[in-house]
Amino acid sequence: MTGASGNSGRQSLRVAILAATEQLAAAGVPSPQVDAEELAAHLLAVPRTKLGLHPLIDQHTADAYRALVDRRSAREPLQHLTGLATIGRATVRVGPGVFIPRVETELVVEAALDAIAEVDSPVVVDLCTGSGVIALAIAAARPDAGVHAVERSPGALAWARRNADLHVSSGGTPIDLRGGDITDERLLADLDGTADLVTANPPYVPDGTPVDPEVADHDPAEAVFAGPDGLDVIRPLISVAAGLLRPGGFLAIEHDASQGESVPALLAARRVLDQVAEHVDLAGRPRFVTARRVRLATAANRD
Ligand SMILES: C[S@@+](CC[C@H](N)C(=O)[O-])C[C@H]1O[C@@H](n2cnc3c(N)ncnc32)[C@H](O)[C@@H]1O
Repeated sequence: MTGASGNSGRQSLRVAILAATEQLAAAGVPSPQVDAEELAAHLLAVPRTKLGLHPLIDQHTADAYRALVDRRSAREPLQHLTGLATIGRATVRVGPGVFIPRVETELVVEAALDAIAEVDSPVVVDLCTGSGVIALAIAAARPDAGVHAVERSPGALAWARRNADLHVSSGGTPIDLRGGDITDERLLADLDGTADLVTANPPYVPDGTPVDPEVADHDPAEAVFAGPDGLDVIRPLISVAAGLLRPGGFLAIEHDASQGESVPALLAARRVLDQVAEHVDLAGRPRFVTARRVRLATAANRD
């Protein structure tokens, strides 16, 4: 990476970003310019939109920037370098041992918040919470909600606890984090039939699917892969979610783009669920499914 130097040793940030963009593109990074700008913004502790306020950087900053760009070129995830990921109103800390929240999940959070817009003090359960980002995005938008979240991996749970603590220290309402497997019947028994909303972004990638180096080398495998068809976690999760929901309660599950038929079919097969709807992401790919627990239990739909 090169930069225009003056007598003061200060260099052009614009030139440094251009060089970084080229380096990241050559390394196969999918959004090289965005990442080059994000890394500069992180280093200068300013929003990306304010980089223009820093036309020149000193030698120390230029060296630090080069080091970050080298790590990103080696396909270390951008969010591990900045330490942060944002979904909706939640910015969470992330790093080794926890899944990095993806922009697609924003859509799940929006649908979930719409569904509880008219519900006072809603009860919310986020299954497979990872960093806690969905639970915290809902808690931030709806301070009146009682938010519960479950995570099995001790490493990910530690990140979720840290994020939940930061949420409280910045004035947010506490969430209830539970460590364990969502299929452990004792873990959520007290919430059976009470949830106005259940959300989940579980592991759903079919085993053996080729993934980018950022995923293969840095996301925990148990957060990504879920059996030959990617449904090993979603199948039992649907039963767990159906048991948690109150009549009329809303369910949103993110899934793989290849599961736009299989996951809705699994939901539609449950008599206790109706209004099954599939949703696409900004690129038009099937991304998440929603449903409601039927309002009236009849002999035909009691389970
Ligand atoms: C794709 S990550 C999603 C994390 C977070 N919801 C998000 O959107 O960023 C899935 C998470 O589910 C957790 N997980 C997988 N199977 C689980 C199970 N049976 N019970 C509880 N958590 C599980 C993984 O450890 C991982 O943290």
